[in-house]
Formats: sequence, C-alpha cells, structure tokens
Amino acid sequence: MAQTQTRLDGLFSSAAKRVAPGAPGGRGLSPDRVNFAGGAPDPKSMPTKAMGAAAVRAMEKNGQWALQYGAAAGYDGLVEQLLIKLKRDNGVDVRPENVLITAGASQAIDLVCDALVDPGDTIISEEPAFLGALRLFNAHQAKIVGIPMDDRGMKMDVLAQTLADCKARGVQPKFIYTIPTFQNPTGVTTTLDRRLRILELAKEYNVAVLEDDAYFDLRFSGERLPMLITLDDAGLVIYTGTFSKIIGAGLRLGWVIGPVPLIHKVSKLKPDGGTSPFASHIVAEYAPSQLEEHVKELVNVYRNRRDAMLGALKAEMPEEITWTEPEGGFFVWLTLPEGMDSVAIQPEAAAHGVDFMPGTVFYPNQEGRRNIRLAYSFTDEETIRRGVKILAGILREYLPAT
Ligand SMILES: Cc1ncc(COP(=O)(O)O)c(C=O)c1O
Repeated sequence: MAQTQTRLDGLFSSAAKRVAPGAPGGRGLSPDRVNFAGGAPDPKSMPTKAMGAAAVRAMEKNGQWALQYGAAAGYDGLVEQLLIKLKRDNGVDVRPENVLITAGASQAIDLVCDALVDPGDTIISEEPAFLGALRLFNAHQAKIVGIPMDDRGMKMDVLAQTLADCKARGVQPKFIYTIPTFQNPTGVTTTLDRRLRILELAKEYNVAVLEDDAYFDLRFSGERLPMLITLDDAGLVIYTGTFSKIIGAGLRLGWVIGPVPLIHKVSKLKPDGGTSPFASHIVAEYAPSQLEEHVKELVNVYRNRRDAMLGALKAEMPEEITWTEPEGGFFVWLTLPEGMDSVAIQPEAAAHGVDFMPGTVFYPNQEGRRNIRLAYSFTDEETIRRGVKILAGILREYLPAT
C-alpha cells in the first residue's frame, strides 16, 4: 500500500474538494487570517482544564467502562445529565427511552434520514439552511423543497402552499427541516406565532418536523422562545441537539429526541458500538457542577463578539448592504445589492486574508449569490473589527455603479 494514488481515488474526488476555506482543519485556522467562514466555537473558551480534571475523575471512577464498547442508545449516565439539562434550561421533559446519544447532531440528522428517507423522497427545508444538513439530504438522494425565509423565519404562506401542492400531487414529505433558534446561516429566530403555525400545518398534513437546535443555549438578548418540541402536542417533532457549541465540537457528542419507535429504529441503524463512551463519561462527570456556569461565560464571550460584529458592520459597510441582527448563535447574514456576486468576491477577500462563506453553499440550487454568511464565533473582537473593515473595502469596490 505504498502508492499514494489508487484506482479508488476517483470515487472520492467529489468529496475531497468539499473542504470549505476557513473550515476547521483548513487554512482559515491560521492566526493571521480573519476566519468568518466556519461555524467553529471559540478555541480560547474551551473548558480544557475542567474537562481534563473531569476526565481524570471519570477514569478513576469508571475507567474500565469508559474504555469499553457502549450501549447503542448511549451511556446512561450522560443521558441522565442531558435530561437534567434539557428540563432545567430548555423546558424539555422527556424520558430516557426518547433519547439517543449520537456522534454530534450531524449523525443525529443522518440517522433520522437513514430511518425515514428513501431516494426520491421529499424533504421540506427552510432556505437557506445548514450546509451539513443539505449535504446529508443530498446524500440520501432526497428531493429538497426549499421554503424561503424572512427575518421572522420561514414564510408561512409558502409553507402552507407547498404542503397543499404536495398533497395534491400525492407526495408525502418525510419531514419539515427547521432551525428555529438562531438559524444557521441567517441568525434568524422563528417567531412564536410562526412556530405555532409550523406545528399546526404539520398536524394538518401529518408531516414530521425535524427541529435542529444547535444554538438554543447561546442567547444574548431578547426572550427565550419555546422550542417546537415543547409546543408539540401531536408527537410530530424530532429534536436534535449538540454539545459542540457549549462544550467542544471535538467531543462529537449530540443527541436525537423523538417518539420511542423512532428511537428504536435509529438505534438499530447506529453501527458504532455506542457513541464514544469515553467522551460520554467525561461529559457526564463535567456537566453536573460546571456546564451551567460555563454556558453563562460563553454567552458573554459570544455576545461581545456579536456586538463587535454589528458595530463594525454599522461603522464600515456601504449603506446598500444590509444584514440580520441575531439575538444569539454564531452568524450574521449579509444581503448585497442586485448585481453583486459573493462567489466572485470570495477569492479577493481570501487574498486579503478574510474568509467567509458565500450564500450559495446554503441553498440546494446555487441561489444566494447576493448573500454572505459571517461567523463571529471563532474570532476575537479586535480581529472582527479588522476583518469587517477589510471586507467592507472590498465590497465597496464591487458595488454596482448607480
Ligand atoms: C444548525 C446546525 N446543526 C447541526 C450542526 C452539527 O453539529 P455537530 O457538531 O454536533 O455535528 C451544526 C454545526 O455547525 C449546526 O450549525
């Protein structure tokens, strides 16, 4: 196996080129660059010491089990801690049978697709949407029907019409995919009346809702809104979450919550001998005494960054460019005037040391050329201000002549 090229290379070529600039592991992690591209958590805020100490305690107490294969549903000590956290912070009151620990929320979404989606099936998704979910829907050969968003969430008239059209054509969508809180990529939070309307429509058309809730805990301002799963009285909501944004993405720990038959089905589809018992034991040791406090610290860190980003945008950007004002999460979504193309601008920004994601990667069909996603999560305030200034200068050069 010494050769570096094999006949299998052709199979992987399309996957290999998908590493986005600025994605973790890509060049955007270099300290001289301004990384607005990846949705990565702040490296300096990782609770490395506390997790190290928790790891030592976990090994002393239960090391032989932490290093063993685990149960398919996940380490029950972690499930117990997760249920305590979800009840305390998120108002979700479910039983252990409703929970499966997964390798990040990404695997949770993948497993839900494994369980529910056959090639050619329809998934209704807000548009734009989380790139990782779109990739998974594509990998399952689903037909993605996008519902456009405004600053209050998915447009409800379009969702209602889409569901009616599907019904008229005899198409049963497998689920409606939504990130109602601090959406990736727009930062938008779906209003309460729209949350209720999504559930009303889901009930009327008997369609499941996949609620992806990666950012719920990171609210900087405004009132907490109830999650869809807590408003659902019909058992239609499947809920996914993650420890990636509130402890560390390297843990690869997330979860899916749903009706017991679905959880059984997805557990059977999980081929890996239980999601990392090692990481699970450490988090179960860390969470009871430290997670709540740590999340409070993170909220302060990311609030300062959001404020730095919004302040810099206001100070530097030409008035033709607009943006969302998130109340939490990691992202701001810029809209450029007619005639500008974020895909064409990206290489020039990269050449000046600023990485961002063009809007197109968040659409199934290459729309979004007039949008840019800026992540403020990874970069400190001073760098945010520097990066926005550079970017604003570049965007100004591309403004269409009036
Ligand atoms: C909305 C959303 N869902 C899911 C994920 C995946 O998270 P995980 O690291 O748990 O796989 C992300 C990560 O960026 C995300 O933004």
